[in-house]
Amino acid sequence: MKDNYGRNIDYLRISITDRCNLRCGYCMPKGIRLAPMHDILTYEEIELICKAAVKAGITKFKITGGEPLVRLGCPELVGKIRSIPGVSQVTLTTNGVLLGKYLDELMENGLDAVNISLDTLDRETFRKITGCDDADKVKESIRLAVEKKLPVKINTVLQKGINDHEWESLAELAKEAPVDVRFIEMMPIGYGKQCEMVSGDDIRQKLKELFPNMEEDHSVHGNGPAIYYKIPGFRGSIGFINAIHGKFCDQCNRIRLTASGEFKPCLCYGEHVDVKQMIRDMADESEEEKIAQIEKIIVEAIQRKPQNHCFESREEITEDRQMVQIGG
Ligand code: 5AD
Ligand code: SF4
Repeated sequence: MKDNYGRNIDYLRISITDRCNLRCGYCMPKGIRLAPMHDILTYEEIELICKAAVKAGITKFKITGGEPLVRLGCPELVGKIRSIPGVSQVTLTTNGVLLGKYLDELMENGLDAVNISLDTLDRETFRKITGCDDADKVKESIRLAVEKKLPVKINTVLQKGINDHEWESLAELAKEAPVDVRFIEMMPIGYGKQCEMVSGDDIRQKLKELFPNMEEDHSVHGNGPAIYYKIPGFRGSIGFINAIHGKFCDQCNRIRLTASGEFKPCLCYGEHVDVKQMIRDMADESEEEKIAQIEKIIVEAIQRKPQNHCFESREEITEDRQMVQIGG
């Protein structure tokens, strides 16, 4: 459906857990309080929400976390959502550590594409960023997903002095394999506020110097706000999600659902519409009635979407949770 600013909202990002098997400081800083398990939506509740979302005009779904693959049964959930009439796409955002293990099951369940987060190719830097030693597992997952012809996007967040010197080698992943590599500007959400971000435009300029024939690629690559470039000889494209320096709010097509059952109209603001309690209060109602009531909440969340985010004026940001609690 259209929101109040004429944007077509057809994409829902669902966080299925606020747990993660890595500890990237900007997303899951130490001492963070996790939601108790009874506050996390069950898969049955998520499925009901997806059925209602389709009625409200959502056709594309992204499963995210935390790390979605740490929650058992994630591939079956993908299958359940994928088979709801009206759903055109179910994709997954993962850190890749467990992707190799679940890849076949995910694909059997109809997963359409995967976004894999990878900020560095260097083992030591990987340990520094994530607190863990799993760089090789992530690289192997990427290799396997490509081999099995699942469309892959690599999400990279550069931080000054930590991994920004790797822009070239990360971009070259798209030379070796048909994957899109996307540089995402660090957003001032949670601990991300304290990290020194790298401007996507700076990286684009450096790439342009290195590859003067780099050209904007206007073909559609997915649901996101990324702008893509093609480099001759590269099998995949290079994308930029310039959350800070390039405002893409006029093309926003999404709402978010947190693991504990709140719809978030925009990443930037704390405002949310709770759906969990309403579903639980309706335990005795028919499925049809539940779906009808959930649809109303989704419509409300869409209508409450603001025109713009406010990442550039930090004092206006009202979301005070960490990324892992919201859904990256
Ligand atoms: N800004 C930009 N991206 C972030 N992610 C987590 N926190 C932030 C942030 N503050 C990204 C991760 C991963 C995805 C789930 O979200 O790097 O790619
Ligand atoms: Fe986990 Fe991804 Fe957050 Fe890192 S960025 S802590 S891998 S959810």
